[in-house]
Amino acid sequence: MLSLLAAAVCLLASVLAQTPPSYTLAETDQTLGLSYGSVSVQAGDTLPYKVPSTTPTLSTSTPLNSTYIAIIVDTTANLSSPIPASLVYFQQSLTFSPTTGLASANTSAQVPYLPPTSVGHAYLALLYTQPAGFAIPSNFPYNDTFRVAFNVSRVQADFHTPLLAANWFVLGSNCSTPPAYTGYGTAASTGFALPTHGPFVKAGVVYANGAAGRF
Ligand SMILES: *[C@@H]1O[C@H](CO)[C@@H](O)[C@H](O)[C@H]1NC(C)=O
Ligand SMILES: *[C@@H]1O[C@H](CO)[C@@H](O)[C@H](O)[C@H]1NC(C)=O
Ligand SMILES: *[C@@H]1O[C@H](CO)[C@@H](O)[C@H](O)[C@H]1NC(C)=O
Ligand SMILES: *[C@@H]1O[C@H](CO)[C@@H](O)[C@H](O)[C@H]1NC(C)=O
Ligand SMILES: *[C@@H]1O[C@H](CO)[C@@H](O)[C@H](O)[C@H]1NC(C)=O
Ligand SMILES: *[C@@H]1O[C@H](CO)[C@@H](O)[C@H](O)[C@H]1NC(C)=O
Repeated sequence: MLSLLAAAVCLLASVLAQTPPSYTLAETDQTLGLSYGSVSVQAGDTLPYKVPSTTPTLSTSTPLNSTYIAIIVDTTANLSSPIPASLVYFQQSLTFSPTTGLASANTSAQVPYLPPTSVGHAYLALLYTQPAGFAIPSNFPYNDTFRVAFNVSRVQADFHTPLLAANWFVLGSNCSTPPAYTGYGTAASTGFALPTHGPFVKAGVVYANGAAGRF
């Protein structure tokens, strides 16, 4: 009985996801491969909170032979702010291996990956083609310690580059022992678990084509 109650409380956290703001980003049909260890994110997944705690591996299943910029944002970091998104990750100079499809970069991230902490928030991973000769603008204020008010809609215009691929997940419950999601494998006692595919995903924000660039 106790464990059932604990599970119910844990689930509540993801059911109470905040409504995303109404701003619109560019859309894309192309999925950005986004993996945390053995967990490969399917757009709209709810991830147990410890799963996205390390820098993800980005990948592509279609050939991407140029140089790219990857950005991860918490789209609903501060709903009181006119620019509600916070920057989680900003990595430039990414290339994808033509054989494995895995991304790598020869330079450290401008804004290193910060493990998501806001349960119920949507985290959006976006890939842009990096313009030739790209350099981080001198007035780009973001770094490891300054991440707030990142206007995602401006990326395209400021960096003169269209959105190419995307993926996203919702940060799930923070349970020391996560509930065992029926049908999705047994949750490990460490807080790691397989992602859930559906039960807590908000109706209407799952994109059938597997990628989302809009809320
Ligand atoms: C890169 O990929 C595009 C699209 O698949 C292709 O048209 C182009 O020839 C490729 N370029 C190189 C240098 O391989
Ligand atoms: C959220 O944004 C509002 C308006 O910009 C600001 O006053 C407030 O300090 C922000 N809250 C946090 C936690 O950053
Ligand atoms: C890093 O990779 C980028 C993109 O492939 C390339 O333009 C640049 O020359 C590389 N820099 C170094 C130091 O290898
Ligand atoms: C998760 O729960 C633990 C234990 O209650 C707490 O210490 C930690 O701050 C929580 N983390 C987040 C991201 O809420
Ligand atoms: C991070 O960015 C903020 C705002 O642009 C700036 O005030 C701060 O000095 C920067 N910190 C570092 C370590 O560069
Ligand atoms: C965010 O950027 C978009 C695109 O440049 C712009 O239209 C919008 O006004 C910006 N939002 C805020 C609150 O500055």
